[in-house]
Amino acid sequence: MKEIRIGLVGAGWMGKAHSSAFLDAQMLFGPDYGTAVFEMVADTNEASAKEAQHKIGFQRVTTDWKELVTDPDIDLVDIATPNAFHYEVAKAALENGKNVYCEKPLSISPEESKELAQLAKEKGVINYVGFNNTMNPANAYVRELVQSGRLGKIMRFTGTYDQDQLLDESLPIIWRHINKLAGCGALGDLGSHLLSVSQFIMGDIAEVNAMATTVFPKDLRKLDPLKWLM
Ligand SMILES: NC(=O)c1ccc[n+]([C@@H]2O[C@H](COP(=O)([O-])OP(=O)(O)OC[C@H]3O[C@@H](n4cnc5c(N)ncnc54)[C@H](O)[C@@H]3O)[C@@H](O)[C@H]2O)c1
Repeated sequence: MKEIRIGLVGAGWMGKAHSSAFLDAQMLFGPDYGTAVFEMVADTNEASAKEAQHKIGFQRVTTDWKELVTDPDIDLVDIATPNAFHYEVAKAALENGKNVYCEKPLSISPEESKELAQLAKEKGVINYVGFNNTMNPANAYVRELVQSGRLGKIMRFTGTYDQDQLLDESLPIIWRHINKLAGCGALGDLGSHLLSVSQFIMGDIAEVNAMATTVFPKDLRKLDPLKWLM
């Protein structure tokens, strides 16, 4: 039975969701694809890292992700930090020959993402990005129907992605609201899921025309991002 020793960077919402999925995967698919070993967790917030150790069972804890990506006992680096840190962590992990499971977006610029994809190819490792909606069985079935030709020529794809998570104005400002840390707003955060599903089902997009508006405009650009991250 192959063990996959996981190093998690970022023990917040998605870090917990990924860890739960690693356990579920074994329950659903059996141990033939590997058994998750929760080797090390890194979070700049030590309390979050320790909580993940306590609740998920990570064997070791650090507040310095560099320690994790260079550790010889890690097979897979799982990146679930705010977006702006993905590139640096993924690059270091790939350079150290680790497989990488990175939350979306892989980075906050296309150039950086291409560089990481190329680096993963050169190193012969996996660089998987968390566009998890393509794993929804309903979407996989639609893709199969479309690709088999059973639905004929597809004329139109219509989609919405609704989430009210940040609708409550009394919620505190977090990294998601700060462009320097998130690299995008709600369109990039949630619209990218819709695009990933459309690409999965229909193939690459040739051209884009768009109209967009911000429903509740507030200018946060003058805020000091690091102050809000702490
Ligand atoms: N695929 C999806 O459906 C989905 C859903 C939610 C979030 N996400 C993505 O997951 C990522 C994390 O989002 P989240 O909602 O879990 O955020 P979160 O704020 O809940 O967790 C982020 C964690 O990273 C830690 N952190 C911050 N900087 C760090 C650093 N330099 N090194 C180590 N740890 C650091 C924070 O202390 C925090 O514990 C984002 O990229 C987001 O876009 C994807």
